[in-house]
Amino acid sequence: MAAALGRWPLGLALCCLLGASLAVDRGNFKTCEQSGFCRRQRRIQPGNSPYRALLESLELGPDVARMRLVNEATQVPLLLELWGLSGNVTRLRIQELNPLQPRYQVPDVLLGEPPAERLEVTGRDEGTLELALGPGGHRLLVTERPFRLDLLRHRELLCSVNARGLLVFEHQRRRRDSDPPKDPPGEEGAAQEGPEDGAGSTQSEKPAEPPAEPEEEPGAWEETFKTHTDSKPYGPTSVGLDFSLPGFEHVYGIPEHAESLRLRPTEGGDPYRLYNLDVFQYEVFTPMALYGSVPLLLAHRPRLSLGLFWLNAAETWVDIGSNTAGKTLFGKLLDYMQGGGETPQTEVRWMSESGVIDVFLLLGPGPADVTAQYGRLTGTQALPPLFSLGYHQSRWNYQDEADVEAVERGFEEHELPLDVIWLDIEHADGKRYFTWDPSKFPNPRGMLERLAARKRRMVSIVDPHIKVDGGYRVHSELRARGLYVKTKDGNDYEGWCWPGSSAYPDFTNPEMREWWANMFAYDQYEGSTEALFTWNDMNEPSVFSGPEVTMHKDARHFGGWEHRELHNIYGLYVHKATAEGQIRRSGGRLRPFVLSRAFFAGSQRYGAVWTGDNTADWEHLRISIPMCLSFGLAGLAFCGADVGGFFQNPGPELQVRWYQAGAFQPFFRARTWTRRGASPWLLSPEHLAMVRAALRRRYALLPVWYTAFYRCHRQGIPVMRPLWMEFPDDPQTFAMDDQYLIDRVLLVHPVTEPDALGVNVYLPGEGEVWYNDETHEQHRAPQTLYVPVTLSTIPVFQRGGTVIPRQDRPRRSTEAMRNDPFTLYVALSPQGTAQGDLYLDDGVSFDYATKNAFLHRHFSFANGTLTSSSADPRGSMSSPAWLERVVILGVGRPDSALLTTHDGSQTPLQFQHDPARSVLTLRRPGVPIGADWSISLR
Ligand SMILES: *[C@@H]1O[C@H](CO)[C@@H](O)[C@H](O)[C@H]1NC(C)=O
Ligand SMILES: *[C@@H]1O[C@H](CO)[C@@H](O)[C@H](O)[C@H]1NC(C)=O
Repeated sequence: MAAALGRWPLGLALCCLLGASLAVDRGNFKTCEQSGFCRRQRRIQPGNSPYRALLESLELGPDVARMRLVNEATQVPLLLELWGLSGNVTRLRIQELNPLQPRYQVPDVLLGEPPAERLEVTGRDEGTLELALGPGGHRLLVTERPFRLDLLRHRELLCSVNARGLLVFEHQRRRRDSDPPKDPPGEEGAAQEGPEDGAGSTQSEKPAEPPAEPEEEPGAWEETFKTHTDSKPYGPTSVGLDFSLPGFEHVYGIPEHAESLRLRPTEGGDPYRLYNLDVFQYEVFTPMALYGSVPLLLAHRPRLSLGLFWLNAAETWVDIGSNTAGKTLFGKLLDYMQGGGETPQTEVRWMSESGVIDVFLLLGPGPADVTAQYGRLTGTQALPPLFSLGYHQSRWNYQDEADVEAVERGFEEHELPLDVIWLDIEHADGKRYFTWDPSKFPNPRGMLERLAARKRRMVSIVDPHIKVDGGYRVHSELRARGLYVKTKDGNDYEGWCWPGSSAYPDFTNPEMREWWANMFAYDQYEGSTEALFTWNDMNEPSVFSGPEVTMHKDARHFGGWEHRELHNIYGLYVHKATAEGQIRRSGGRLRPFVLSRAFFAGSQRYGAVWTGDNTADWEHLRISIPMCLSFGLAGLAFCGADVGGFFQNPGPELQVRWYQAGAFQPFFRARTWTRRGASPWLLSPEHLAMVRAALRRRYALLPVWYTAFYRCHRQGIPVMRPLWMEFPDDPQTFAMDDQYLIDRVLLVHPVTEPDALGVNVYLPGEGEVWYNDETHEQHRAPQTLYVPVTLSTIPVFQRGGTVIPRQDRPRRSTEAMRNDPFTLYVALSPQGTAQGDLYLDDGVSFDYATKNAFLHRHFSFANGTLTSSSADPRGSMSSPAWLERVVILGVGRPDSALLTTHDGSQTPLQFQHDPARSVLTLRRPGVPIGADWSISLR
């Protein structure tokens, strides 16, 4: 929940009553001009870089190339390191050769040191050096003066670095008018090695005498925003670098922004900002920072996708420019060589307040290669427990146990499926997390057991701000153990948040995470059971009394690091410790479910994320699609937006449309602060029936969702995908974000306009066909199809050539349908073929990974025969589920349909054929879902 809600409830209530539209208070948040380093860097115009590469300093290790860069104006030397990593990834890191203090290098994001390929010098020339990077045909040209890098695949230029001369590395310096700072970072229990110990061999000689510093501009050693002063004891330490992407006109990613999928040029406005913030009443279509940050940008054009992963956890701004005119001579030469007129080009400029430059260039070549490359570096989406793909209901606030029971009964009575009920901050005793309000929730265990008996679960909120209260065990222990974040003066950092005066556990400290994880044990978190899961809100962290509603940048963390260095990763650590706690409480057996509001690169390993406190208006419904698409591209596949909108009241039409859209997004939770929003049966019977239909469609398609999540978990490919990921050579799809694909099988175009009579749906794919998911009507592609709609329509199409499994019996929850029979929908391609798969496991444990207890079936239709075979022979599991029906779309009437089971026995099947729609329904094959079989049409 956003910060300001508690502070101005009256004002908020008033303007809601008046129906006024609310808007973010922009004055609370910095613009680039108000952020010292962004202002300083942006003032530097493209031109000749002062940096020179000392080619003669090259040291070629078995897998890394090192050389010096020197700033010819200041003579300060930098160390450049280059790697060709396996799987078409190039890494480049730039840091100070002789820093006064170690610089922060982001830990805990990469899965490990990525394996590197052998590097080779393949050319040397006056002023240039050519390196071959592994077997992908990638080469790197290093130009001496001014320093630049050009990355090529064979003869094609993929990306240039520092081509516009915007490499910035503010080296550490001593303050001229005062003593050097005390307490340098990295001294007490250093969390990581400084570059002097870690980087190896090149820097053996003594640090050069610090050269005379140029006059510092005001704000370099201290910066004030509103009433807050940032002491900046180490002075300016920002870094920045530019990347030119020839031939690219479309770039994506760098969530979180309330923005279209395709990023827009930032000239004339602010850059996109990455700085995890609790933004009250956020607006759409702005580059302002929101709750989470993933510094991964993707670029796409026909036949090539690339990714730029900028591994830095400090405040970061990203400028996007399009450029043909300002191209460098080299670029123009390339246009000439590549036989064309001007090729368009996208310029990307990263600027971070501190840390080092550490960049991974993900070289594709396809979109799924880029997401897989990113997944190999930072991990893929954790496989969610099956129940968490069901429907979630949250309200601020359910009053007490009786209220919870009444809500659950409402879902039961109105035959609405429901998996999880959520409790917000008021459930705890005075907002002391890990406790229950003794009068409202006197018997949490009984409540949880009642829910579990109906195959439902609960989520309670556990936020990372801890009430400062000597009588609260969590607080007294953390204080006693010294596990809180500290102020610059070494006291416990305190700020204002929901419980009033609050302290903030230092989750960057492994000991803190350990302590926190242990709090989820059933005997530590009293009243908790296996049916209770967790929501980490406010973990940016939100500090109502802090600058930009967050923590002071000069606060101190484990190892002496300033908050400035690691702000964007704080929320990831909260998420990680919570997920580990849930795993641990089950003895390592059960998968966790934790929703987090803040995130960073790698958060996908710990659970779900959502788009925060949105508003009940049509714009916020529309923006939920591109927001979740860009989360997915950045690895965060388990994304959703609060259905109905959190602030304000949706009208019934908007509420219905939002359920319909939410049913087709990965994380499906309604959350609101109104009773009506939280109780769909307060809608009219017609509207309620539409909500019920949307919920049931979600549940029927759970096998598709779960299989897609498994694929994502294994391969790093998003569950909810932009069209261009599957149709990468069709430029018509490159900017589309009002429709998308689930896995590769379903195309969804939610209705997001009021009073809609129809929508235009683009059906991609030369020579392909698509089938309306409800009417089974067949449409040729490519075309833009006008689909007339009523308020009950959700335009969804199954791709010809695919098979999807469904469980069509309405049930109260996912667990209730676990053993239900399946129906296969086989949608034939124009060639009369189809392929698909189904993944199944116990839905809750890690046995799929540790014991291969899973089924992965492959379905294939060709030459009139549908075959079921194992897609992965490692897996085995017994399942009572069986095949109830097969529906084949786009087929003529056969004379017979013969089922052959694995033992060779044959049984004719009864069938029905609808000639108008070419739909064949085969009745009751009755085979176990895990068995091999085939069905032949004659
Ligand atoms: C690496 O790139 C080459 C094209 O140069 C491509 O054929 C290959 O599949 C890519 N490998 C991976 C792992 O992405
Ligand atoms: C289908 O039949 C054709 C020729 O009759 C054959 O070439 C092809 O391999 C068959 N495909 C399958 C999947 O059985």
